[in-house]
Amino acid sequence: MGSEPRDPGTLQDDAGAAAPALWNAFANMASLAGNAVTIVRGEGCEVFDEHGRAYLDALASLWYCNVGHGRVELADAAASQMRQLAAYQTFEPFSNLPAEALARRIADMLPVPGAKIFFTPGGGSDAVDTAAKLARSYWRAVGQGSKQITIARSHAYHGMNAYGTSLGGIPANTDPFVPLVSLVEHVAWDDAPALEKMIETVGAGRVAAFFCEPVIGAGGVYPPPDGYLAAAREICRRHDVLFIADEVITGFGRTGAWLASDRFGLDPDLITTAKGLSSGYAPIGAVIASARVAEPFWRPGSAEVFRHGYTYSAHPTACAVASANLDLIEREQLVARVAELEPVLARALAPLAGHELVGEVRAGTGLLAAVEIAEDARAADPGIGPRLVAGIRERGVITRLLRGVALQVSPPFVITEAEIARIAEVFADAFDAAAGRGSRS
Ligand SMILES: Cc1ncc(COP(=O)(O)O)c(C=O)c1O
Repeated sequence: MGSEPRDPGTLQDDAGAAAPALWNAFANMASLAGNAVTIVRGEGCEVFDEHGRAYLDALASLWYCNVGHGRVELADAAASQMRQLAAYQTFEPFSNLPAEALARRIADMLPVPGAKIFFTPGGGSDAVDTAAKLARSYWRAVGQGSKQITIARSHAYHGMNAYGTSLGGIPANTDPFVPLVSLVEHVAWDDAPALEKMIETVGAGRVAAFFCEPVIGAGGVYPPPDGYLAAAREICRRHDVLFIADEVITGFGRTGAWLASDRFGLDPDLITTAKGLSSGYAPIGAVIASARVAEPFWRPGSAEVFRHGYTYSAHPTACAVASANLDLIEREQLVARVAELEPVLARALAPLAGHELVGEVRAGTGLLAAVEIAEDARAADPGIGPRLVAGIRERGVITRLLRGVALQVSPPFVITEAEIARIAEVFADAFDAAAGRGSRS
């Protein structure tokens, strides 16, 4: 064959093994292929790769494995439901018992009477698209069809479907896909007056909704500035703009309350959730619609139909797993545990703020934190972030880089204080190594 280009589908490595066919998310496959970290097992806060190497999972995978890895009762819940009825569609009249029970349970957890739950199959991105379409449908249903614009924030991450990509405020994720979904505007993440100005500029009569992560997650973990959320909520109420809390990360305990909306007193019109609903043991999301938004569609005699749904909406196995996950969180009182660990995590990471390569440590809202790499260090050495992530993994802890600037810390709720201390030590050691100093251990 000599120098003829090889067909990528049949590429072989030096040992003659077939080249991988799996195309990873957000990965440069040209450099990753053959170097993947293949995780084969998980137990508590640890995961193990195919070579038997253990890693402390400081991410809870992607912010979701809240009850920890290897919880057999969730596997049993799936198996038991699958034996009974693995899946059945919920279009038009069809329903199933696990979905009905889970919807009732979520609705009853909220302080708002009359909430209705729309389940999505793929996780948060589907929930975000559903909420955006439902907000627009709501205004049409109440005779104000000109209210169709949605507003989102800089640094925001609302998933990777077309709507979520467009609402996102991380240019690296949006720029490659312009033109995006229209009728979306952005404001600065921390500036409530800017939100009001935007509503006034485009006209309240044209604005459907404001999308807001109570704590910005993938954009770098930014807890809300003091007073920001209350002010934004009040502005939306005053201008009759729906307030959509994107709680895909914060929902079901991560901030030390069942919902961040409870913690921050938000009373949203719509809430998007996913990850923590099932701790990732099955893919599922949920849009929680307040009674106000549901009313035009549920009112006796209404002809309004929300023409939206997915093949796997309200999937019975996923719903059964989610219910078992909520049972487990309640039985082990894991939400209270997050509240207890909030200051422990903040205290453990705080000393890193004094490191010459660290710009800021953001912590203090539950088990959600980030360590930002100093701006001058990133400017002088653009490779420092990926090298820190690799160095931390070599030391046995998994983290990742958010928006190219900060290292994520969002462990499972079952993490111990000793494991939190270990994350902080490993981070410090890797930062020291990046600064050219020897290991602390
Ligand atoms: C706030 C927020 N919304 C939406 C999403 C999209 O969720 P998924 O990746 O499950 O589609 C994410 C994912 O991280 C998220 O953090």
